[in-house]
Amino acid sequence: MSQSITIPRPDDWHLHLRDGAMLAGIAPETARHFARAIIMPNLVPPVVTSADATAYRERILAVTSADFIPLMTLYLTEDTDPADVVAAHKGGIISAVKLYPAGATTNSASGVVNFENVYPVLEAMAENGIPLLCHGEVTDSEIDIFDREAVFIDRVLDPIRQKFQGLKVVMEHITTADAVAYVQDQPENLAATITTHHLVINRNHILVGGIKPHYYCLPVAKRERHRQALVNAAISGDKRFFHGTDSAPHTDDAKESACGCAGCFTATNTLSILAHVFENGSALQNLERFTSRNGPGFYGLPVNSDTITLVKSDSPVEYPAKIETDAGPVTVFDPGFPLFWRVVQ
Ligand code: NCD
Ligand code: ZN
Repeated sequence: MSQSITIPRPDDWHLHLRDGAMLAGIAPETARHFARAIIMPNLVPPVVTSADATAYRERILAVTSADFIPLMTLYLTEDTDPADVVAAHKGGIISAVKLYPAGATTNSASGVVNFENVYPVLEAMAENGIPLLCHGEVTDSEIDIFDREAVFIDRVLDPIRQKFQGLKVVMEHITTADAVAYVQDQPENLAATITTHHLVINRNHILVGGIKPHYYCLPVAKRERHRQALVNAAISGDKRFFHGTDSAPHTDDAKESACGCAGCFTATNTLSILAHVFENGSALQNLERFTSRNGPGFYGLPVNSDTITLVKSDSPVEYPAKIETDAGPVTVFDPGFPLFWRVVQ
């Protein structure tokens, strides 16, 4: 007998859509199933002003279905003008501001070096209820890459949150038990996104039996005990944890390189993977909190009124191994096991 589950249409609270030919090629993979997505601003050059965000939004709308809503963000730099941020948020142009420590990840060269230089922006954001989305890794060369998230909490995030107590903050794409525990311990103006791939892979998947460039992303996947902490947080239904794919396309030649780019492309099969993870955790009843309810709750938006249905069948779901774009092929994330949950709309 086939099993099915119907949930409010999901949103993606952390997504990279890129620009140009890549945008045109991969945006439909998200718009097919998701109603809204928080769009990351790490283009080259980055989306730093409300005018940049308006123009980028138009380019996204030009290649997506009419009912897909991109929720725009600004890339925080040491030159960001607090008045521009507040006006963009009041005008409904942006939903949040993204903090990249300079050099932390793909296209983060314009990020913040000296956090005190962005205090005026953070103050204005706290006063106006504008969420700060953090790429939570320090970049100091002496800090081991597997420790960079935990150190970010102590050295950067907690001091900022102490100073700006009203500031709404999302720790993006958390990868550690330390981040789960920190979020659980804090008031409700702190939340976290969890990606699809970090619920599935640990660092062995990247490194054992040969290096797997398509599993390399930032923050890098950690030990199995951290993956288990992420799964427990996601399936718990706790409203401070919600789904952000961090689907981050790079062409195969950029990934399969002597210096490969960070990013996993999960837009295509994300919902099938999530249903699998939640079923394995005996928590299918909480899938809709993670994908469709907790995110809008944090951002103060309505839950989507339409629904999607996932059906479990005996034969594995077929999905393309690659998405062919005019920028080049993009490999779809391989969870390493067959998927049986199919989105039937
Ligand atoms: C992202 C990208 O490619 O833009 N890469 C990644 O590994 N997640 C940037 C980011 O979110 O860190
Ligand atoms: Zn990202």
